[in-house]
Amino acid sequence: MEYYLIDTHAHIDMLTNMEEAIKNAIYNNIKKIILPCAYPNDLKKIYEITQKYENVYGLLGVHPSEAKDWNDGLINKIKEYATSPKIVGIGEIGLDYYWDRSFNDIQKEVLIKQIKLANELNLPICIHDRDAHKDTFDILKLYNKNSEIVMHCFSGSTKFAEECVKEGWYLAIGGVVTFKNAVKIKEVAASIPLDRLLLETDCPYLSPEPHRGQENQPAYTKYVAEKIAQIRNISYEEVAEITSRNAEKVYKI
Ligand code: NI
Repeated sequence: MEYYLIDTHAHIDMLTNMEEAIKNAIYNNIKKIILPCAYPNDLKKIYEITQKYENVYGLLGVHPSEAKDWNDGLINKIKEYATSPKIVGIGEIGLDYYWDRSFNDIQKEVLIKQIKLANELNLPICIHDRDAHKDTFDILKLYNKNSEIVMHCFSGSTKFAEECVKEGWYLAIGGVVTFKNAVKIKEVAASIPLDRLLLETDCPYLSPEPHRGQENQPAYTKYVAEKIAQIRNISYEEVAEITSRNAEKVYKI
């Protein structure tokens, strides 16, 4: 049985050496990489990387921290690039109340616009939710009609995880699950149904143990898979198979 991993959230464009990281991912059996967009000015760059590397797929969108840079002209740009089969979703979009709460309303407005765009294009949505669980949940419930939802870098409680699972959303877990004191995410990793689980690195950030503090990269998805297998007391192969199948299903890759 052949098994492999998929890194469903990797900012490889921000790495010191993207080319090397892609090679290293292939060498470590990370078969597919999903590259999200954060900044409006990066849409073209993300698109171009997906055209250059066969195993890299792209998401297009504007990160909540950049919401003030949103303009409606971006909608047509995203639509144009999204005609490529290598663009597989809208993201990362959402709410981030951790860094700056001074423009929550703009963040919400920009999130809603991008949910509507994803619905129109019938693409899945990759959600960034930091310290904004309730508002994120409420907005998705109210505005999302037909897009699959991925809660990237899930950071909520088991209770919030249950609520998301009940909605049919996917939860993506990354390197934090390997951190010694990260109790909450370990509980989530142990309890959510396997058919809702995705793996990610969120590189260059949040490098898992034993590389904590260093620059993260897609190859390190394997440490996340190992940790989840250990927590759930199942095999690494099973985690690989199920999470890869989930990623392929939600992003149609
Ligand atoms: Ni990200």
